[in-house]
Amino acid sequence: MRNTPISSEIVSGKIKEGGFDSVGRASIREIKKLVDEIEKATGEKYIRMEMGVPGLPPNKIGVKAEIEALKAGVAAIYPDIFGIAPLKHEIKRFVKLFLDIDVDEQGCIPTVGSMQGGFASFMTVNRMYKEREGTLFIDPGFPVHKQQCRVLGHNYMSFDIYNYRGDKLKDKLESYLKTGKVSSILYSNPNNPSWICFTEQELQIIGELATKYNVIVIEDLAYFGMDFRTDYSIAGEPPYQPTVANYTDNWILLISSSKVFSYAGQRIGVMVISNKVFTTKAPDLKRYYLSDDLGYAMVYGSMYVLSSGVTHSAQYALAAMLKAVNDGEMNLTESVKEYGEKAKVMKKLFTDNGFKIVYDTDVDRPIADGFYFTFSYPGFEAEELLNELIYYGISAISLLITGSERKEGIRACTSLVQREQFPDLEYRLKKFHEDHPVN
Ligand SMILES: Cc1ncc(COP(=O)(O)O)c(C=O)c1O
Repeated sequence: MRNTPISSEIVSGKIKEGGFDSVGRASIREIKKLVDEIEKATGEKYIRMEMGVPGLPPNKIGVKAEIEALKAGVAAIYPDIFGIAPLKHEIKRFVKLFLDIDVDEQGCIPTVGSMQGGFASFMTVNRMYKEREGTLFIDPGFPVHKQQCRVLGHNYMSFDIYNYRGDKLKDKLESYLKTGKVSSILYSNPNNPSWICFTEQELQIIGELATKYNVIVIEDLAYFGMDFRTDYSIAGEPPYQPTVANYTDNWILLISSSKVFSYAGQRIGVMVISNKVFTTKAPDLKRYYLSDDLGYAMVYGSMYVLSSGVTHSAQYALAAMLKAVNDGEMNLTESVKEYGEKAKVMKKLFTDNGFKIVYDTDVDRPIADGFYFTFSYPGFEAEELLNELIYYGISAISLLITGSERKEGIRACTSLVQREQFPDLEYRLKKFHEDHPVN
């Protein structure tokens, strides 16, 4: 038996019982179940960094508006498929006030989480031109998006941005677009899992190439405003959340309420389609839809078949939360800054004990502190490191499932870790460092 912070006998027993060949290769849900069981058997609390879920209470303004809407009877009524009028109005205002981008209300469409916005976007955009094959993912990324393409039967391409930051992005991106096979480009910014944020120069490269090759950029803003190095939270005042929409008209933005408003449970997000994209005609769409008009196909074709609109009461919740930030009555990011503050402390505990941050800069600036960070330990590949950290009461996921080529990399999510656990984290990391000296 080894002397590790969590009883090695119990950990090994649970791994065996669960039938795991390797914890490092298990899915997020499998790791969750395993750690739940070890915690129950040992009475010890893990530093749980495997799941990207909000760790804060839901936004009160949203909850209140939703209860009022339910009391008023909206549950009985099908919502308009393109979204309720007050929500469309607040989305348009939000896009102007926090991105400084103009868009018509018709392109502001609620979705069942931004997840559904991604699915509807792939489904429609990737069918506009029959000679094109699918989406180019700028990785690392959220694995579910690729799964969406797979279940749609679409091909996709991807590359890890790690070695192609700054100027180098142009040739790399163009090498894919030149093939004529790409219909859309997807990335998240700030990025899940690495928390890199694109620079203005990089967004300009993406935008200009999207225009040149007539490709639509699906910009996933699931962590809107959460690059806490800059305060993007003041309505109508610069600086604004960076976006590719400043550099091309070929965009669809996906904005989530899950993290910034801690509203993940109600599954509501928005898809914002540029005026140009919304009104684009693509005759090949007629293979699947009644109209060759992208906006029409998206709303009355894709959104209709997927869920026939979005939960009526949740739309009132989001309208109220957006109105509150648009009117300056609620600060957009104040409640989620805690994630960044915890990340700062946690990253230091890791690096003080021999660990390295994998995606560590945005070209020439240290990466922001936020919802996620990535780490490695000298001499370990990710799988081995996860297999070992489980004995030290630390759970996380490997970057390999995210399209990263950094074989040593692990993603840590800060949201569920409580500040009271920092002394435990420090002790466990110190012990790990002692037990695995770096030459
Ligand atoms: C990058 C990214 N995109 C999309 C989502 C899904 O967001 P939603 O809950 O709005 O569907 C997440 C959630 O973790 C995410 O990390």
